[in-house]
Amino acid sequence: MSELLRRFLPPYRTKALVGVVCKVVEVVFDLLTPMVVASMIDVGVGNRDMGYVMRMGGVLVVFALVGYAFTCVCQRLAANVSQGMGTAIRSTLYAHIMELDTPEVDRFGTPSLITRLTGDVNNVQVAVAMGVRMLVRWPFIAVGSIVAALLIDVRLGVVFLVCTPAIALVFAFVMMRSVPLYGAIQTKLDTLARLVRESLEGVRVIRAFGRESFETKRFDVAADDQADTSIAVGKLSASLNPATFIIMNLGVVAILWSGSFRIDAGSLTQGELVAFVNYMTQLLISIGYVANLVVIFMRGSTSATRIMEVLDTQPQIVDGPLGWSDLARMSRDAPVAGDAGAARPVSQLVLPATPDLPALTFDHVSFSYGKGAPALHDVSFALAQGATLGIIGGTGSGKSTLAQLAVRLYDPSEGSISLGNIDITQYELAMLRIAVSMVPQKASLISGTIRDNLRWRNPAASDDELWEALTYAEAADFVREKADGLDEPVEAGSSNFSGGQRQRLTIARALVGSPRVVVFDDSASALDYATDARLRASLKRLPAHPTIVLISQRVASVMGADQILVLDHGNMVGLGTHRELLESCPVYREICLSQLRPEEVGV
Ligand SMILES: Nc1ncnc2c1ncn2[C@@H]1O[C@H](COP(=O)(O)OP(=O)(O)OP(=O)(O)O)[C@@H](O)[C@H]1O
Ligand SMILES: [Mg+2]
Repeated sequence: MSELLRRFLPPYRTKALVGVVCKVVEVVFDLLTPMVVASMIDVGVGNRDMGYVMRMGGVLVVFALVGYAFTCVCQRLAANVSQGMGTAIRSTLYAHIMELDTPEVDRFGTPSLITRLTGDVNNVQVAVAMGVRMLVRWPFIAVGSIVAALLIDVRLGVVFLVCTPAIALVFAFVMMRSVPLYGAIQTKLDTLARLVRESLEGVRVIRAFGRESFETKRFDVAADDQADTSIAVGKLSASLNPATFIIMNLGVVAILWSGSFRIDAGSLTQGELVAFVNYMTQLLISIGYVANLVVIFMRGSTSATRIMEVLDTQPQIVDGPLGWSDLARMSRDAPVAGDAGAARPVSQLVLPATPDLPALTFDHVSFSYGKGAPALHDVSFALAQGATLGIIGGTGSGKSTLAQLAVRLYDPSEGSISLGNIDITQYELAMLRIAVSMVPQKASLISGTIRDNLRWRNPAASDDELWEALTYAEAADFVREKADGLDEPVEAGSSNFSGGQRQRLTIARALVGSPRVVVFDDSASALDYATDARLRASLKRLPAHPTIVLISQRVASVMGADQILVLDHGNMVGLGTHRELLESCPVYREICLSQLRPEEVGV
């Protein structure tokens, strides 16, 4: 919590401080009130002086009004500080999550990141608001009541001094037991968020398979588990109030009992005893509030730790030293086309293609997601500028992993990948991702319009460019048929488009901005054979002649490629043209014969 406050409180420090000072003023008036009441009783009632009673009554009204005014200012400032800080934390956290690497996002899990962004930030926000409003008030009143009581009568004040450590013990016990439970509650909320997300995303499939009751039961189990932990914490914190109230009420009994003897003996006035009981009551109430504050702070502090965990995670996949300015300089210095120099490859990213240098090279690349067998093992190939590489392999053979490595969503565990003879880790990430475009296997669009979605790679792209990309992606026809064309809304989850339409829109998106390399990760899987064939033909006509990596489960899609890479359980079991592989690669031959007739295969 302290780390989070150090980072986000400074802009609001003055407001928080003024808020706290207002609270102190309010508390001082609260503490003076019993003294005024005491003198009302002792002087006013004792001497039957109605005028005095009325004057003191007036003083009490003034105290209340002044206290109220300061409370209002404090509440307002507390709301300002907590909302402002909450918004700043949320925005910073969101921006940081956007910068995190794919492996880090995998590690936290999307649902947990969502809970941290929403629930956890909210817990911190509440803790900050209560901090400004209450942190000073109740401890101050508690301590002030004890001091005021001791000032009235030291011997009776001893009762306060005995009660306080007893209550502190109760607090310590409850806190020790509840802190770990708060962490557990947040983790269980993550699980709930994950289940809700999974079920809502797959709601149609769940219905189609009649799995509603199974999913509901799965959710109920997780919800009950979370509720049990919350109830356990609730019971613990609920025990705070009765335990402290018993101690304090015993204290009140002790005060009344021994106070009565002191009044009889004449060493204490009735007004002082009433003031004493008033202070005891204030102490009682303040301890009740402190108990609630402790709960709020414990929850806030657990949430702050979870937020800091994300903020402290630094992305490992970071920019390389080569930026746009280096690119421009190297382009200027570039040797003439056809002369393979070390500096030129970078210029290939923006200059017309020079076919003699490999555009994309994988050099003994291996990658592992963590424990278990590597998802990709010792993969090597060199792809000429403008050439097409087909990748085929069974499910789970590492195709998508390879695609993600090419745009640095992950970095290889071993080996290296280069673009135009320069290791891709040397480029600035934004530049690399402008040069290498990927169409992910799962077509995802964001809510907005078709135009918004197509402009991801180039926010300034003109409508003509977008239509051109749509035409090459075989998507222009259906977009033209939409009532609003490029302005057609894309609903959340892009549910107003068919799977094939979604795929073609993501292909068009990848083609905007003339990438040098385009990686298609099984992105024609939802297209019929005729559209798939037309799409491949039109990709060949792309004016910028990008290098193409075409991942597919269909032999027909890859057999025309310049080279075909065959993956099997992460291993590269073949690399060559369709003809060569038919001869040399049994896995490829088997895949071909399982999908096509022998005459189509060409055996
Ligand atoms: N984020 C991940 N975390 C852990 N393991 C993963 C992750 N993504 C993929 N894997 C594992 O890596 C292996 C390769 O997965 P990959 O997605 O690359 O296969 P694929 O060839 O694209 O399969 P498909 O044809 O079904 O799309 C699989 O065994 C998979 O379980
Ligand atoms: Mg895949």
